[in-house]
Amino acid sequence: MDDLRRKYLDAIAGAGDETAIEEVRVQALGKKGEISLKMRELGQMSAEERQSMGPKLNALKDEITSALAGRKASLADAALEERLAAEWLDVTLPGRPRPRGTIHPVSQVTEEITAIFADMGFAVAEGPQIESDWFNFDALNIPPEHPARQEHDTFFMARAAGDNRAPHVLRTHTSPVQIRAMQAQGAPIRVIAPGRVYRCDYDQTHTPMFHQVEGLAIDRDISMANLKWVLEEFCRAFFEVEGVELRFRASHFPFTEPSAEVDIRCSWEGGTLKIGEGNDWMEILGSGMVHPKVLAAGGIDPDQWQGFAFGMGIDRLAMLKYGIPDLRAFFDSDLRWLRHYGFSALDMPTLHGGLSG
Ligand code: PHE
Repeated sequence: MDDLRRKYLDAIAGAGDETAIEEVRVQALGKKGEISLKMRELGQMSAEERQSMGPKLNALKDEITSALAGRKASLADAALEERLAAEWLDVTLPGRPRPRGTIHPVSQVTEEITAIFADMGFAVAEGPQIESDWFNFDALNIPPEHPARQEHDTFFMARAAGDNRAPHVLRTHTSPVQIRAMQAQGAPIRVIAPGRVYRCDYDQTHTPMFHQVEGLAIDRDISMANLKWVLEEFCRAFFEVEGVELRFRASHFPFTEPSAEVDIRCSWEGGTLKIGEGNDWMEILGSGMVHPKVLAAGGIDPDQWQGFAFGMGIDRLAMLKYGIPDLRAFFDSDLRWLRHYGFSALDMPTLHGGLSG
């Protein structure tokens, strides 16, 4: 009995993993295990022998069972210790510095514009950047052979060989969103539509992708006077100067009649631009009364409704307000430029909190 005891307790102590422990268990206590067979032999013993051997064997079985369980638990503890040691982490190490991003001036200015127009009751509308030529041109009263199509330096999408339909275009302006918004919402309507537009052009003040914001207000009796007030109100709020002065210059767009380009009074003294003073004028947007054909294309009855529309360059407004000289740098993703001209993520532009922080 003592030999058996030694043999199995030693084997258990030497088992290095769960499989080894299981082997020892089967060897001792399995159906054909050594201890199990011994217990079966009890049946052939005399009553006396059985009385002395029975309890001893039972005690041995219990001792081996609990030694097996104990070994299992200590192996599990060791595995946990090992894992804890491997996953050790020095929480006193200093944090790794991460490159710090900022809010891009285009995002900032878009938020500023949205806040100002939201205060005047304009909602934000959206349209796709890949647009059908009907929305980008025809619906805006620019028929296929109209010279304005050439002026737009349009990027055309490819068509499969043999497909003779007019190709889609990268929208050349945000004006197609006028049509989409009118079709979706009907009249009356008051929306702005900021977003990306594309023209094949590249120099200090032109990039193939840039940003515009469209404005559209349709109601029963909207006039040029409302347009003038809204734009003056916008410029005062946006440039954060009381004495802004705008000049409406007669112009031509196929989708507005009459049309006006709008200049803002400024000075360039000492090479820095100041808005609201001086004797120079800077063009900032195109505008006019929505053409009856455009209203009709948007599903709105031109005999019942009228309104104004305008479109301005967001990047250009950002350059003017924040004194950024080169448009191309806007899209270089240069972190040093972004750190210089970017805005804190925590400064959301609001009318009461201040637009530009
Ligand atoms: N879509 C015109 C442009 O890109 C701007 C504009 C919009 C003019 C709305 C009038 C009315 O130049």
